[in-house]
Amino acid sequence: MCGIYGYIGPRNGVKIAIDGLKRLEYRGYDSAGIGCIVDNGIDCVKEVGKIGVLEAVVDGLTSHAVIAHTRWATHGKVTRENAHPHLDETGAVAVVHNGIIENYTELRNKLKEEGVHFHTETDTEVIAQLIARIYEGNFLRAVQQAVLLLHGSYAIAVLHKNHPDQIVTAAAGCPLVIGVGAHETFLSSDPNALAHHTREVIYLEDGEVALIKADETQVFDATQAQISKKTDALLHDIGTVSKGDFQHFTLKEIFEQAQTVKNALFSRASEEYGTVAFEELHLTANELLTIKRVLIIACGTSWHAGYVAKYLLEDVARIPTDVEISSEFRYKNPIVEGGTLVIAISQSGETADTIAAVREVKAKGAYVVALCNVQGSTLAREAASCLFLRAGPEIGVCSTKAFTSQLVVLTLFTLLMARLRHMSKNEGHSFLHAMHELPDQIDEILGHADAIHTIAKKYSQYNDFFFLGRRYMYPTSLEGALKLKEIAYVNANGYPAGELKHGPIALINETCPTIALAGDKVTYDKLLSNLMEVKARHGKIIAITDAGHGALKDIADDIIVIPKTLDELAPITYSVACQLFAYFVALERGAEIDKPRNLAKSVTVE
Ligand code: G6P
Repeated sequence: MCGIYGYIGPRNGVKIAIDGLKRLEYRGYDSAGIGCIVDNGIDCVKEVGKIGVLEAVVDGLTSHAVIAHTRWATHGKVTRENAHPHLDETGAVAVVHNGIIENYTELRNKLKEEGVHFHTETDTEVIAQLIARIYEGNFLRAVQQAVLLLHGSYAIAVLHKNHPDQIVTAAAGCPLVIGVGAHETFLSSDPNALAHHTREVIYLEDGEVALIKADETQVFDATQAQISKKTDALLHDIGTVSKGDFQHFTLKEIFEQAQTVKNALFSRASEEYGTVAFEELHLTANELLTIKRVLIIACGTSWHAGYVAKYLLEDVARIPTDVEISSEFRYKNPIVEGGTLVIAISQSGETADTIAAVREVKAKGAYVVALCNVQGSTLAREAASCLFLRAGPEIGVCSTKAFTSQLVVLTLFTLLMARLRHMSKNEGHSFLHAMHELPDQIDEILGHADAIHTIAKKYSQYNDFFFLGRRYMYPTSLEGALKLKEIAYVNANGYPAGELKHGPIALINETCPTIALAGDKVTYDKLLSNLMEVKARHGKIIAITDAGHGALKDIADDIIVIPKTLDELAPITYSVACQLFAYFVALERGAEIDKPRNLAKSVTVE
């Protein structure tokens, strides 16, 4: 999704900003642009398509003060004109913007009545025109006044031609981080894109405005009073991540899962007591015992992880659990009773809907535990406790290793809650033992990649799939189907196998294969009956199973055999097999796997 980068200092900021935009590329975008201070004012260059196209056009351009942007279209088509930066009608002010200005039509109409001419349909142009209209010689003041009129969410960076030694930036509801260097200052919507220049950063909070110069940064709160902000230290440098020998980041990340699962487990399992200790969880055992209900909020793949956790927490820890999609939840008037623990799951920690939902439950007094992969992200800073996934940067837009790490952390949390309540030490030991087997089991599945590729190739030209599962395999089927949609652009539906006959079975025929996730022992026989119904309608069946596959052999057209684990842990192993299947179907179809069309890694708008 949209990304912002900026630089002010003695070096050529154009080169630095282009490099910064490349580090934001993984978030997804469709056009890019750069605005910079030059001798006679502001120069803006924008292009549709890859950063490489923009880079070629700005070759030779130099500037010490630059703002830059990758755009993921919301208001207006993907065109050069709609790309950022946007200028006011006199060309004095340039703005790059993430987020959505909800009252832009109203502001635009008002400015039009005052005689201002607009050149684009974007909400961002309104910000540039507004700042220029308010400006009376004090750049900072003009931005401070303008943002007071904006409704919605934004992170902006602004240049003014009369103030070549300044960038003014502001944020509300979208992340903006300032990187403090030696006699130079950077800014970005993503802290990871700053780490190779400086590890010292300042996060702008909602309503804050910053005046940035090469040597100093002044931050002001929403009342326009100057405030002193602490600097935080960054840990990761995303710039060091490479594909290695893998054709795609997505494949590399799938193959990293034996290690990332180990990382998520590391030092959290308490072998002696058959339980779990999270050093980042700031809740005592007594406080954990007062929890009567868990409410999980998340989007996309993270929501699927939350759905698995609902089964886990209810089944294993016997705690009533609801799981909600953040974008729906945030517009409810949620009932948050005493004793409710909220778990917010987000790989990026920047998903706008999840953050808004978290703010809503916090306002209602809930204690929020976040599950997040990115240190310093908005969610990690908003939550009372944050359990980190330790999966390392995930570059592929579709989530793979972060998902399995989410499942590991949620399973560990379930074990902790179960042990505090009714689970015996011996049961806890067996559970942990099964968890420690996961990395080797994942390696074994990855060892079958060629066989899975052969099956995926066979089915790669089908355009509709069902993924069926029951109990733990139901949310796993949702995630398996999502992978195929995201990276192979193939229509796929995850369904509870028992529900198929209530409508969707009408779609089953020889052109619509079914991926059967046969990883739940409790419902295994029931699933076989459902598959018979599919077979009777000439549906092809690809079964993923850890069973002796006697009966399945007669039903399925193809079988992927993976190692046996507990039902509770099967979502992890089965998901790895589904990820490989989706990856190879996408590969055979020639889809763009790491950055699928229309998708963004970090969705910072509603
Ligand atoms: C986007 C990504 C998905 C991801 C979802 C939630 O849609 O393309 O892969 O699952 O956002 O992201 P989060 O960072 O909150 O887990």
